[in-house]
Amino acid sequence: MMSHRGAAVFLAALFTACAPKPVGPPIQSVATLGEVMHDIVIPNAEVVWDSVGTIYTVKGVEEIRPKDNNEWMHVEQSATALTESANLLMMDGRAKDKDKWYRLSIALRDAGAAVHKAAKARNPEAVFETGGQLFEACQGCHFAYRFTPDPSTIRTH
Ligand code: HEC
Repeated sequence: MMSHRGAAVFLAALFTACAPKPVGPPIQSVATLGEVMHDIVIPNAEVVWDSVGTIYTVKGVEEIRPKDNNEWMHVEQSATALTESANLLMMDGRAKDKDKWYRLSIALRDAGAAVHKAAKARNPEAVFETGGQLFEACQGCHFAYRFTPDPSTIRTH
């Protein structure tokens, strides 16, 4: 008959053999949610929003547009960073839940991809429009998770 020790070793081996393999690659969140916002999301959103616009002055109307291929590439790069940052937001350790948070993150991913497409097409009007979609994606999540539900304490800046 197997000793107790022998049985324990046997069971340990059995459990090891049957333990579920981790699904997917060993990804792990390192930066905090606030750091992802500050270091990836915000600077890249600013590149997109600053790239196209119209300034009205007493002297006339100034259209802001990417001037050359380099500046367009810069918008494309930021759009890629924004698109992929949505995947970072959905990682364990950052996601606040697995339902609404995922949906609002996917809205950011879709907006980032739309900006990227517009920039690749070198279409300033489309960058302006998808930049609005991007802003709505930010706000959608912030109103659900960042601002407190008590209206008297909602931050206005
Ligand atoms: C899926 C949810 C989600 C999306 C999408 C999102 N954010 Fe955030 N954001 C948050 C949360 C939650 C916080 C609060 C984080 C904290 O205090 O730790 C935050 C914080 C911030 C802050 C304040 C940081 C601080 O230190 O006070 C800024 C600015 C910000 N986000 C900008 C953006 C911009 C710009 C976008 C869109 C391009 C965006 N966020 C998209 C969830 C989101």
